Amino acid sequence: MTVREAYAATSVAGVDVAKGTAVAVVLGGANRDPAVFVDPDTYDITRPDADQHLSFSAGTHFCLGASLARLEARIGLRLLFERHPSLRVAGQGVRRSTRVLRGYASLPVAL
Ligand code: HEM
Repeated sequence: MTVREAYAATSVAGVDVAKGTAVAVVLGGANRDPAVFVDPDTYDITRPDADQHLSFSAGTHFCLGASLARLEARIGLRLLFERHPSLRVAGQGVRRSTRVLRGYASLPVAL
């Protein structure tokens, strides 16, 4: 969740937002927007519109570290699956309680 302050009066999805109003943006919700994604609750990185996600935000405040984060993920995940080709989820994960960087605190896997 990101909080921004409206620098001018505007309207978002039919809701008037006065100048100076704090607006909480829930990017995790945007990534499950049924108006953007078909079957939005299914995790599918191969979907044709996968690049429409807002996990790194968008516009002026787009994440400066996005390229580094993508590179780290590419290298890390490739190595993980090369070393453990049979790796699979083996139980219920425990979600982090934060709404900012959402994800799992733990996820049991079998190697
Ligand atoms: C998977 C990893 C990451 C995710 C999901 C992520 C996500 C985000 C998001 C959503 C924002 C926008 C926040 C806002 O609108 O206020 C942001 C901004 C930012 N991120 Fe990341 N980030 C990641 C990794 C990184 C890394 C590795 C770096 C630096 C090495 C980094 C540096 C920044 C900076 C400096 C901003 C502020 C940009 C601005 O406000 O102009 N991030 N990030």
